[in-house]
Amino acid sequence: MTELTAVRRSFSRAADRYAAAARLQRQVSDRLLDMLPPIAAGCVLDVGCGTGFASAGLRGRYPDALLLSADFSPAMLGAHAPMSDNARMCADAHALPLRDGSVDLIFSSLMLQWCDLSRALRECHRVLRPAAAMCFATVLDGTLREIDKAFATVDRARHTLPFLDEAAVAEALGAAGLVAHHVERSRQVEYFDDVRSLLQSNRDIGASRVPLHPRRATLGRAAWQSVCAEFEAQRTPLGIPLTYELAWVVAYRPGQGDPG
Ligand SMILES: C[S@@+](CC[C@H](N)C(=O)[O-])C[C@H]1O[C@@H](n2cnc3c(N)ncnc32)[C@H](O)[C@@H]1O
Repeated sequence: MTELTAVRRSFSRAADRYAAAARLQRQVSDRLLDMLPPIAAGCVLDVGCGTGFASAGLRGRYPDALLLSADFSPAMLGAHAPMSDNARMCADAHALPLRDGSVDLIFSSLMLQWCDLSRALRECHRVLRPAAAMCFATVLDGTLREIDKAFATVDRARHTLPFLDEAAVAEALGAAGLVAHHVERSRQVEYFDDVRSLLQSNRDIGASRVPLHPRRATLGRAAWQSVCAEFEAQRTPLGIPLTYELAWVVAYRPGQGDPG
């Protein structure tokens, strides 16, 4: 199974539970909507739209636009509540079924960390018309560090994605030919009552790379206890933390005659 197929499968499995579990993802999507530039957009694309958190917000901001939603998981697309879009595509962000220069605005909330960032941004550049905008939120290194720390006590395997740092995101933007107009960084922390609900939540949003239950896992009982003890050592008065380091980017494809 390729990495891409594994990611698609993980989101497809989570589709029914995603909307209820994805509290942080909904907040990120709402905040990203507030960063959208007030432009006249004929065609707007939400890439990695998931279950459509941004759909109504995009329609509200661009009432007359052709609103396209794309996601490579048929189940995430299928789990949509009634949406405000005009068309829905089951498509991979690395190879969008759209003509060169056909989109005025790309919106993408918490999808790009699952992609080969350089390839996906190049593809966005290709479908954007000159002078068109792209607005995205993604996560940076340090995200889910509590999971890495807990599992480092028992093995050397990766239990989270290899998240990029801010410099790598900036480099990928430049290499794709996109010009950053606004870049912001922020930290958001979710808190959980216990280890099981933390890992279950991560699983319900399709992001899990960690075994959930010792019986089903390759971890023995002693290893599982060690993981739980490390999570407990990280507990705060608010609960066991799970950190997201967020990057917020508004970028443009340069127009004809613009430098870059
Ligand atoms: C964390 S969810 C975010 C969904 C939505 N944007 C939101 O704010 O709720 C990530 C979404 O990206 C999709 N995705 C991941 N990699 C993708 C790819 N290469 N092409 C298209 N969609 C992808 C997943 O199927 C999933 O629906």
